[in-house]
Amino acid sequence: MAAGMVLLSGYTGDENFIDPMCGSGTILIEAAMIANNIPANINRKHFAFENWKDYDEDLYFIIQDALLKKIRSSHFKIMGFDKAPSAIVKAKQNIVSANLEEFIGVHHVNFFNSKKEVFGKTTILFNPPYGERLNVELAEFYKKIGDTLKLNYPDSTAWLITSNIDALKHVGLKTSRRIPLKNGDLDCKFVRYDLYEGSKKASKNNLDAI
Ligand SMILES: C[S@@+](CC[C@H](N)C(=O)[O-])C[C@H]1O[C@@H](n2cnc3c(N)ncnc32)[C@H](O)[C@@H]1O
Repeated sequence: MAAGMVLLSGYTGDENFIDPMCGSGTILIEAAMIANNIPANINRKHFAFENWKDYDEDLYFIIQDALLKKIRSSHFKIMGFDKAPSAIVKAKQNIVSANLEEFIGVHHVNFFNSKKEVFGKTTILFNPPYGERLNVELAEFYKKIGDTLKLNYPDSTAWLITSNIDALKHVGLKTSRRIPLKNGDLDCKFVRYDLYEGSKKASKNNLDAI
């Protein structure tokens, strides 16, 4: 799911990447794999196909070698924030287990108090809390997402997934894409907001609520 969302966003590793509510770091790990062209399951010790009768070990090593040669080094920043210290601890553990600590930084930050501190175009992609029903706090939470993106993250493309379509209306920004996705049993929307440099353009484009 995380890899699918990163691929759907069109992110290829040629700009910065931020997951501002990163939880255990799944989206960051997939983004770093894609940015560096690292083959999926690279750390896996055994595959079921190795038990097949006609398994050809030489061919497997040729294919593995060819894929390993295609690994590149993306020089752009891949960063995660979370306001929960426990999430940051877990994300760091998962990033180390995936051998990706060289490429990903995670920080104990409340997204609503943050601003863009990287230069140039940036992809922001996240999975905020959905909440089960729209209550005042959730409406306020999604409004703060919109305000933070609009005011503090110019020159960025933001993607978020949620099953809470009512909450999404409170973001208050115009979506430039809406993709239906399933997250387990939940019907979700994966939406994109284009955030421009310069408050005039941003506010003109962003006043139209979805
Ligand atoms: C649905 S989880 C994200 C799951 C994540 N994609 C993963 O791979 O584990 C939502 C996360 O948002 C974090 N969060 C909620 N409000 C936040 C805020 N204002 N700033 C930063 N993180 C926040 C929560 O602590 C939680 O870890």
